[in-house]
Amino acid sequence: MTRWNVYVTNEIPQPALDMLAEHCDIEVNREGKVLSKSTLLEKVRGRDAVLCLLTDLIDTEVLKAAADAKIFANYAVGFNNIDIPSATEQGIMISNTPGVLTDTTAEMTWALLFSVARRVAESDKYTRMGKFEGWGPLLFLGQDVMNKTVGIIGAGRIGLSFAKRAKAFDMKVLYTGRALNPEFEKETGGQFVSLETLLKTSDFVSIHTPLLPETFHLIGEKEFKLMKKTAILINTSRGPVVDELALVKALQTGEIWGAGLDVYEWEPKLAEGLSELNNVTLCPHIASATIDTRTKMGIIAVSNILAAMRGELPRIV
Ligand code: DGY
Repeated sequence: MTRWNVYVTNEIPQPALDMLAEHCDIEVNREGKVLSKSTLLEKVRGRDAVLCLLTDLIDTEVLKAAADAKIFANYAVGFNNIDIPSATEQGIMISNTPGVLTDTTAEMTWALLFSVARRVAESDKYTRMGKFEGWGPLLFLGQDVMNKTVGIIGAGRIGLSFAKRAKAFDMKVLYTGRALNPEFEKETGGQFVSLETLLKTSDFVSIHTPLLPETFHLIGEKEFKLMKKTAILINTSRGPVVDELALVKALQTGEIWGAGLDVYEWEPKLAEGLSELNNVTLCPHIASATIDTRTKMGIIAVSNILAAMRGELPRIV
């Protein structure tokens, strides 16, 4: 089989790069930075395939520049960075890395929930600053997680994996989404409710919906007003699902109690005022960042390119 010429827009775990290099001629961006639009346009030219990241905006211009490409393999399960209709029009296949990051992302969602509810990140900072002068009955009082109600927005793979773990803490599970999901209910005992009911009655709200035109700013000023004053919002999906300026206001005014975020509306920038708040835990989009999972994501992205090379369909969605 003729070796393909493949461009990789950033470094990914070495086992995946080694696997790709066995079958293809590869060039990898080793600058450790997201490519500028002009470099991306230049680099994709003449390639048979491109392995790209969620931080690369793959729009019509980029797809047109990559006129020889048969596939753009996205190193992520989400693909809101890619103009799918435009790729379809140009006959370029798009693939993602489904499945392998489901449980890892769900685990991180719990880590954020516990961090905010039990004030882990906040009290860690306090302790390191040498402020801990002895045990105190009122020191860093948080919220119990056990026996509470968790509301899940988006009952897909990650929402399900997150919800399954709520059993361990004897929690009540509510969920909302496009439609009632019998598998979700069977596995979690969860109850399908409207978004409004979920927001009004949940102690913790966790977002697991993809970014789509209909989920943009799904949670904003109006929704924060519906939530309990003691509620905690967790977002490990995509930043723009939450109106981040409205979130900052809700956190500043005590409309809600706290938030745990792994994603941001203007990533990597944070909304003004967010980083000054103590009632938030902020992570740099690392929900899938374990050695095992990121390696598996790389292997899937490469396998998708190799499948395309053999004239087969990649594994997607
Ligand atoms: C994804 O895959 O979409 C995550 O945001 C990063 O792993």
